[in-house]
Amino acid sequence: MIARIAELRKDVEDFQISGADLLEQFRIRYLSKKGSISTLFEGFRNVPPEEKRETGRLLNELKQLATDKYNEHRERLSFAETVTSETDLSRPAWPLRAGTRHPISIIRYQVIDIFSRMGFTVSEGPEIEDDNHVFTLLNFARDHPARDMQDTFFIRKSSGVESHPDDVLLRTHTSSVQVRVMEKEQPPIRTISPGRVFRNEAVSARAHCIFHQVEGLYIAENVSFADLRQTLLYFAVELFGKDVRIRLRPSYFPFTEPSAEMDINCNLCGGEGCSVCKGTGWLELLGCGMVDPNVLEACGIDSEKYTGYAFGLGIERAAMLKYGVNDLRLYFENDIRFLNQFRSEIL
Ligand code: PHE
Repeated sequence: MIARIAELRKDVEDFQISGADLLEQFRIRYLSKKGSISTLFEGFRNVPPEEKRETGRLLNELKQLATDKYNEHRERLSFAETVTSETDLSRPAWPLRAGTRHPISIIRYQVIDIFSRMGFTVSEGPEIEDDNHVFTLLNFARDHPARDMQDTFFIRKSSGVESHPDDVLLRTHTSSVQVRVMEKEQPPIRTISPGRVFRNEAVSARAHCIFHQVEGLYIAENVSFADLRQTLLYFAVELFGKDVRIRLRPSYFPFTEPSAEMDINCNLCGGEGCSVCKGTGWLELLGCGMVDPNVLEACGIDSEKYTGYAFGLGIERAAMLKYGVNDLRLYFENDIRFLNQFRSEIL
C-alpha cells in the first residue's frame, strides 16, 4: 500500500494541468468517488494494524496534495477565463477602505519608535502579577494605600488586610515588568515596557479601570538626573513637536528618589491658562525619578556601582494631550465616528 501511495503521489505531482479539460480529468482520476485516491482509502481497511498509522498519514497527505493542486489550478483557470482581450488590465482597482489604527496604538507605536531610536529595547510581562513584583520589590511599604482593595484588583488575597507575597493581582503599573528585567539581567539595562494596567477606579471622563502605560528604565554606571531630563525632553519634542516645553516638579514614588512629575506646556491655550490646564498653562504627562537604591538591591543589582532612572507615562493621557481628547471613555467605546478621525495618522 505504501509503495502504491508513493507511486500515486508522483503521478499527482507530475500531472500537467494546462486547461479546463485537463483539470476535470485530474479531478476524475484522483479525487472523484471512484478515483484512485478514494480506492486507496477503501483498501485501508485491509492494512495490518501496525501499519495503519503510517499508511493513514501518507494517505491523508496525498489527498491534501491533490486537493490543493486541484483548487490552485481551478482558481488560476477561472481567473484566466474572466480576463478576455477586452479586459483593461490597467484600470485602477476599486478603492479599498483600509481600517485605521486606534489612537492608543498610534501613540504606543510612536513612543516605542522614539525610545527605540535611543537604544531602548521593548520588554513585556504578565498582566496577572504577584504582590512582590508590583509592590514589595518596588519598595512599597506594607501599609501603602495602593495595596488596598480599593485601589487594586486582587485575584487571590491570602489574608484580609495584610499584604502577602503570594497575593495575586492585576498589575497596577508596568514597573513590574522592569522588576522582572532587573532580576534577570545585569546593567547596562535600557528598556521600555508598554502594556495594559488595571486600577480599581470608578470610570469617568478622567479615570478608567483599564489603561495603557509605557514605562522606561535605564541603569548603568554614572546615570544622572540630567540624563533623565535630557531623555525626556528629547522624547517630548519627538512626540509633540519642537515647540514643546517641559518642566519637572518634585513628587514622590516609593521606587524612585528623588522623584518628579513632568508637565508639558498646554497646547490648547498656548500657556495662557484654560479649563483643560486648569489655568496653569501646564499639563501633567508622566512620573519619573532616579531608581531607589533599595529597589536595585532587592532586584540583585549593586547600588554602589550602578545608578538608574525610570519614568512612566499613561498612553491615554499622552493621546489626550496630543489630540485634544477630553473624555477617556471614548478610547474604549469603539465609536467609529471617533476612530475615523485618526484616519490620516500613519505608524
Ligand atoms: N509606576 C508609576 C505609576 O504607575 C510611574 C512611574 C514610573 C513613576 C517610573 C516614576 C518612575 O504611576
